[in-house]
Amino acid sequence: MLLAQDPHKGYPDAMKRNRVLSGMQPTGDLHLGNYLGALKQWVVLLGKEDIDPLFCIVDAHAITVEYDQKSLPSRVIDAAATYIAGGLDPEKATIFVQSEVPEHTELAWYLASVTPMGDLQRMTQFKEKSDQHKQNINAGLFTYPVLMAADILLYRATIVPVGNDQVQHLELAREICRKFNSRFGKVFPEPQPRLSKTPRIMGLDGKSKMSKSKNNTIGLLDPPKLIEKKLRSAFTDPEKLRLGDPGHPEICNIYTLHEAFSPPEELLKIDAACRSGELGCGDCKKSLCGAVTAELDPIRERTLELRAKPQYVSDVLDAGRDRAREIAGSTMNDVRRKMGLGRGG
Ligand code: AMP
Ligand code: TRP
Repeated sequence: MLLAQDPHKGYPDAMKRNRVLSGMQPTGDLHLGNYLGALKQWVVLLGKEDIDPLFCIVDAHAITVEYDQKSLPSRVIDAAATYIAGGLDPEKATIFVQSEVPEHTELAWYLASVTPMGDLQRMTQFKEKSDQHKQNINAGLFTYPVLMAADILLYRATIVPVGNDQVQHLELAREICRKFNSRFGKVFPEPQPRLSKTPRIMGLDGKSKMSKSKNNTIGLLDPPKLIEKKLRSAFTDPEKLRLGDPGHPEICNIYTLHEAFSPPEELLKIDAACRSGELGCGDCKKSLCGAVTAELDPIRERTLELRAKPQYVSDVLDAGRDRAREIAGSTMNDVRRKMGLGRGG
């Protein structure tokens, strides 16, 4: 068991396994932050017993900012190809597209009626995105976390693997879950966030978290030469200016990435040689580049292969949609009945 107590005790469905649900927006070009904060962890969870994993491409979330409707479908396929190439085995995980299961938006509306406005107003992602998209601060952007809560609760998921920046949204999902259950009866178990060991990867500028909008990323599909070039100019310990200067791995972004990609014995060596001044940042970056590309090369190649086989990816998404709809349909029958919607019965 991954959770200490049976999370479904007392809930209507007889599910015995922990359901895992997570999602990402359909950006085909994921970056190392998405990989280390989310995708890599999703893959680790697949191997555990007692787990029913569902992963969703949240296209309905993507429309809350300006977007190009012509390229959205291919971005969805590309994102699915990247998930599979990154290790999400479709035999072990249900992979599907959010908008193909309309119950997500239906449940979001119902949950909105138990969501306090004040809680939504406090969401830091809403504040950040409103600053970035001043011309288009729409109600969808504001209620984004309610749709996210619906994504999770619709499947009665108990484990939600995400990066640090989504924890606040998850706290709100838990609050919405409690409010709903206390008003209408026990329908949903409370979901828990699950963070990886690297829940907040900083950007190459060393100033803010790695994020597509900040242009400070290493892309999962970047070719090795580009990764090398990006790392060469990446920010390190500001007190280590030249070879011989003692460094401080605990504050160095390059060292954090080594922690994610290099084996433990290598880390010990890097730590000691950086502190003594014997290892310069240039060489440290070179060995990081080797470790990163060794892990990413097969993912990039497999993604490109899968993108060339959109029919296969589409078939995976068809099967995922059918399974997701089955679960979603059953939850919604329960929800509507408990809420007194429709004619009863
Ligand atoms: P997004 O690209 O915002 O849809 O994020 C998808 C997933 O990647 C979420 O679980 C995020 O928390 C995670 N994520 C995004 N950026 C980072 C980062 N810099 N460090 C760690 N996790 C991240
Ligand atoms: N809001 C998440 C992000 O931007 C994506 C997301 C949507 C999600 N629905 C979810 C993550 C449900 C976990 C569970 O990264």
